[in-house]
Amino acid sequence: MTPIGVLVSGRGSNLAALIDRTRLPACPFDIACVVSDNPAAGALTLARDAGIPAFVHEKLPGMKKREYEREIVERLRAHGVRVVALAGFMRILGETLLSAFPGRVLNIHPSLLPAFPGLHAQEQAHAAGVRYAGCTVHLVDAGTDTGPILDQACFRIPEGLTAQDLSLRILEHEHRLYPQALARFCRHELALVDGRVRSWSPLAPLRPVWEAFSATHFAREAPAAPVPGRPRVAVSACLCGFPCRYDGDGRFLPRLIDGLAQVDVFPVCPEVLAGLGVPRPRIQFENETEAAPEQAPVIRDEHGVEVTAGLLAAADRIAGWCVEREVRVAFLKENSPSCGTLRVPCRGRRVPGPGPLATRLMKAGVRVFTEENFDAGLLTLGTSFIPSPEPWEQTPSREPGKDENSL
Ligand code: GRF
Repeated sequence: MTPIGVLVSGRGSNLAALIDRTRLPACPFDIACVVSDNPAAGALTLARDAGIPAFVHEKLPGMKKREYEREIVERLRAHGVRVVALAGFMRILGETLLSAFPGRVLNIHPSLLPAFPGLHAQEQAHAAGVRYAGCTVHLVDAGTDTGPILDQACFRIPEGLTAQDLSLRILEHEHRLYPQALARFCRHELALVDGRVRSWSPLAPLRPVWEAFSATHFAREAPAAPVPGRPRVAVSACLCGFPCRYDGDGRFLPRLIDGLAQVDVFPVCPEVLAGLGVPRPRIQFENETEAAPEQAPVIRDEHGVEVTAGLLAAADRIAGWCVEREVRVAFLKENSPSCGTLRVPCRGRRVPGPGPLATRLMKAGVRVFTEENFDAGLLTLGTSFIPSPEPWEQTPSREPGKDENSL
């Protein structure tokens, strides 16, 4: 569960849509607090009625932007906020706020950006006579509505629509788009990679595992207790649907998940725990603190290879959870820098032998398998695996020329 802070200035209809989303099952975020720069904002009442802590931070005359934003940052941090959502917050954010939540401030804008940034976007669109309108959820940068676009919703404008009706139509789309985009962002399905927004959606069979994975690991919480009486299996997140793996060369995930249908899957991923939620292990590994990578604390693992202290602490923590939950078998990604049996350190040479997590699990009596020998792991669990045909094997082969002659 990602705690979000919502910044508002006005009536708060987008805030209301976000609150509604938190009441649906499997919402990956909750609203930790609401901050308004306007004491008369209707959004404050909405928040308080929903039992959400709500605060007013007015920018008093003579107050420096830096000081003002520092107050807000302190408030958000005091409530454990990890992601900030602007919902009609009528201020341009400065360096203090943006650097406190790097790449984690979202905004909703009532136009199809980059068209019509700034104030009165709906009126601008109406006056321009555009045929399509919509709204945009984007990451916030130092400019005005210029940050990377996460998602958009768009519709054709009916003939003769007034500017006021156009605003209402756009708002309806905002109320659907913002909660959805925020949920996807918190599940790390939308992420900024090398300056571009990448969108990823798990396959349907992977969805429950992915949900469990993000609900626990991105929020740095212990995974939920497994169902009593079912075999317990730990699966490294890279194998159970983590984007880095999914985009990679080996596509073992759907097979693995099919095979594990009868067991309680317990997703684990030390890279994510060690990092700060950036969905790429290599980046997380090196950026495990907000300090420069070279300043991250480095210690040696059992093979004498340098790894970050946070990563080893994460492996300890996961192994502890597995023992507490009586996990019997673990499937770990073989070439992971941290968990697999053949360690590929980010700094230094490839070292044969069990990685830190595998070592800890084996010491605790957990049988460890990798993607290469997971069939043996399934046998150990007494669960069978029937490979489903690849999609191209299901497609009836087309005889050349047949279709053309069929009429
Ligand atoms: C919305 O139109 C949003 O796109 C813009 O400010 C307005 C806020 O409306 N950023 P509300 O306070 O959420 O009703």
